Amino acid sequence: MYSRIAGTGSYLPEKIVTNFDLEKRMDTTDEWIRTRTGIERRHIAAEGQTTVDLAEAAARRAIEAAGVTPAEVDFIVFGTTTPDLVFPNCGTLLQARLGARGCPAFSVETACSGFIYALSIADKFVKSGEAKCALVVGAETLSRITNWKDRNTAVLFGDGAGAVILKPSAEPGLMSTHLHSDGAYKDLLYVDSGVSKGFKVDAATGKVDVGIKMAGSEVFKVAVTKLGSAVDEALAANGLERSAVNWLVPHQANIRIIGAMAKRLELPMERVIVTVQDHGNTSTASVPLALDVGVRDGRVKRGDLLLLEAFGGGFTWGSALVRF
Ligand code: COA
Repeated sequence: MYSRIAGTGSYLPEKIVTNFDLEKRMDTTDEWIRTRTGIERRHIAAEGQTTVDLAEAAARRAIEAAGVTPAEVDFIVFGTTTPDLVFPNCGTLLQARLGARGCPAFSVETACSGFIYALSIADKFVKSGEAKCALVVGAETLSRITNWKDRNTAVLFGDGAGAVILKPSAEPGLMSTHLHSDGAYKDLLYVDSGVSKGFKVDAATGKVDVGIKMAGSEVFKVAVTKLGSAVDEALAANGLERSAVNWLVPHQANIRIIGAMAKRLELPMERVIVTVQDHGNTSTASVPLALDVGVRDGRVKRGDLLLLEAFGGGFTWGSALVRF
């Protein structure tokens, strides 16, 4: 028994903030952002619009694409670092919206690699026969933890959601997933506040300061190394050559990291799904968002071999090899 992606969906909030808009708010330029990151615009959730609101829209699209009903969903795993509430978790909040009552629903919090972690967990439940229609979500409202006064990080992030439905299949499907984490890298990318540690209040504005702290060039170097190993690992585990991959569906953080992965796989950029220009780094949402774009515009076809990878704060990282 294997699991197979039966449908994909995604959602981006309506409000678009371009690099030119940011030029007016901070000491940056469109040229700097585009050449260093590939990002041209990002979507920002409206006031009051939450992570679960974005997730619900993406989930309903994935459910529709899979040809199932919300009530058929019997397992929900939700990757996010920007939950609506301390509890219930976002998976359970989404479950109530969908009316899929009684099934297991929970969140995983591994920053930008959250979707790969969630996919790997759901895969095991489907393979074991415990789940027949698993909903896997990655959704974020990163704008809520963005320090808009810090040009080093504010230009990078955006809000969005992506989702897939996994169903049992006699043929793969998900061929393998590979998860890694190394907390020794914490200081390179983190948010230095939380419910238990406490929140700092900005003396000038009186607002809670939950800004992202990042050593950009160090993160860049480790990301390229670890992601390189993760894609090699996925191919080796399945005895496949790089040339077997039809599409690389990478975490959309930076076009230069994406380019480095394509080079490692000896794939031309035409075989890479790139959406970073349209929404920046949406953390856990980025891989399912890119996958949904590739599926809906007809590039990704049934039977194609996809290599998914993501890297995030922790550090956490992982890959998945998928026969679509
Ligand atoms: N606009 C203009 N200048 C900026 C800027 C901005 N938004 N942000 C930083 N700079 C400046 C820096 O202050 C620095 O100036 P200095 O040389 O006078 O000190 C200069 O640009 C170069 O900074 P540097 O860090 O060398 O740039 P870089 O080429 O490493 O690019 C990142 C910076 C953040 C784009 C890049 O390191 C990166 O993408 N890292 C990975 C981040 C990531 O993906 N994080 C999420 C992982 S899930």
